Amino acid sequence: MKISIIGTGYVGLVSGICFAYLGHEVLALDKDEKKIQSLRKGKIPIYEPELDRLFSVVRKNKRISFTTDYKECTRFGEFIFIAVGTPPRADGSADLSFVRSAIEEISNHLREGELKIIVTKSTVPVGTGRWIKSFLAERLKSRGIPNPCDLFDVVSNPEFLREGKAVQDFMSPDRVIIGADNRNSAWRVASLYEKVNPTLLVCDISTAEMIKYASNAFLATKISFINEMSKLCESLNADIETVSRALGLDHRISPAFLKAGLGFGGSCLPKDVSALISIGKQHNVTTPILQAVMEVNNEQQRKPIKFLKSVFPSLKGVRVGLLGLSFKPETDDVRNSPSLVLAQELVKEGSILWVHDPIAIHNFLNNLHKFEKKINVAKTPEQLITNCDAVIIVTDWPDYKDIDISLLQDKVVFDGRNMLNPEIMNQICKVYEGIGRTRLSRE
Ligand SMILES: NC(=O)c1ccc[n+]([C@@H]2O[C@H](COP(=O)([O-])OP(=O)(O)OC[C@H]3O[C@@H](n4cnc5c(N)ncnc54)[C@H](O)[C@@H]3O)[C@@H](O)[C@H]2O)c1
Repeated sequence: MKISIIGTGYVGLVSGICFAYLGHEVLALDKDEKKIQSLRKGKIPIYEPELDRLFSVVRKNKRISFTTDYKECTRFGEFIFIAVGTPPRADGSADLSFVRSAIEEISNHLREGELKIIVTKSTVPVGTGRWIKSFLAERLKSRGIPNPCDLFDVVSNPEFLREGKAVQDFMSPDRVIIGADNRNSAWRVASLYEKVNPTLLVCDISTAEMIKYASNAFLATKISFINEMSKLCESLNADIETVSRALGLDHRISPAFLKAGLGFGGSCLPKDVSALISIGKQHNVTTPILQAVMEVNNEQQRKPIKFLKSVFPSLKGVRVGLLGLSFKPETDDVRNSPSLVLAQELVKEGSILWVHDPIAIHNFLNNLHKFEKKINVAKTPEQLITNCDAVIIVTDWPDYKDIDISLLQDKVVFDGRNMLNPEIMNQICKVYEGIGRTRLSRE
């Protein structure tokens, strides 16, 4: 089948390449010309395991192509997927301006005699699908089209992929959610996923939109919950790692998202929890759980600073290294990563900042270009450790597990991901602190 995709970020590009790999014909559009030029040359602008391999297959088979032309894109596919960003506004609500401008563009090129199914894959506030329907109908009427609803239908198909495992998640999803008012459109969209044989859940548009927010809110809640438990463990001298393992063995709880650490980041959880709080406010529904989830997370991301201040009388001139910058391993995405919060605080405190990441340096520096001159980039984790008095493990990249720990001798170490063995580190480091670990006395 022919699919158009608008937005070639993490979601749009992965979906486009995977749909093409499943045998569909895909035309992907982005407003960013540079991105489209590089994709045409076969260069993927994001890091995502497996994506390169699939991309080279579908390019060879000519099943994917790229454009910046909305007319071409609207006319191409029976399905037009919207996968543009929905970033947070200052008040936490979702900014729908990219969605709106994509829909405006589409409305200029819809034609009588053709039915297009517009599918929202972007995470959008509940009610957006219905708004798109009425907005499009108005725009088409103003173009003099008498029966605008014959030209399009709107379906919600929220995306649940995890960065770092996006291809795997697309190819074997836990479930595919399809929200539609029209059963026929729902089954047309469902048929695109036939080859991955998913568990399908078909519902109305608003319910589908709500499922996406509720899923992310629940995952964020699990993380903030375990982080709150870790604070109690610290005060009560209990071990959070053992507590979470035991919790996860209960099949009603499950072990996923129960790892104490520096909190959640990325482009989705913080943004979607904030958006849901804002949706609640708009509808006079209080959301105390969600507010607490964000509060715990904000505090958790700053925890290493509090620790360093308890060790050093002042952080001015202290050489501090951030090991890992992406918000989690296997991605180059640094959006809302604790590394950004920590780097800014440390620069403000007058520390000498060193950073290392296997792939996210470029995105990190782009986000902090104001401070770029104050950031020293280490080529290897070993170089970072050697140059620093204190090291904060921000991202648990698997490579970091192989670091020669003798280099940490007499260093101050904050292990924000409980990656190292506290018994050993307690013997080696000047001061070692993990998250929610049992306090061990130094022999
Ligand atoms: N990243 C994830 O892990 C993930 C997972 C599930 C859902 N989502 C949701 O999917 C949506 C996209 O997220 P993302 O991470 O892929 O975003 P992204 O920022 O990586 O990519 C968005 C792309 O859309 C393009 N764009 C913006 N406005 C456009 C327009 N009017 N016309 C054409 N292109 C336009 C941008 O240039 C960019 O390339 C968001 O709503 C997000 O919440 C993201």
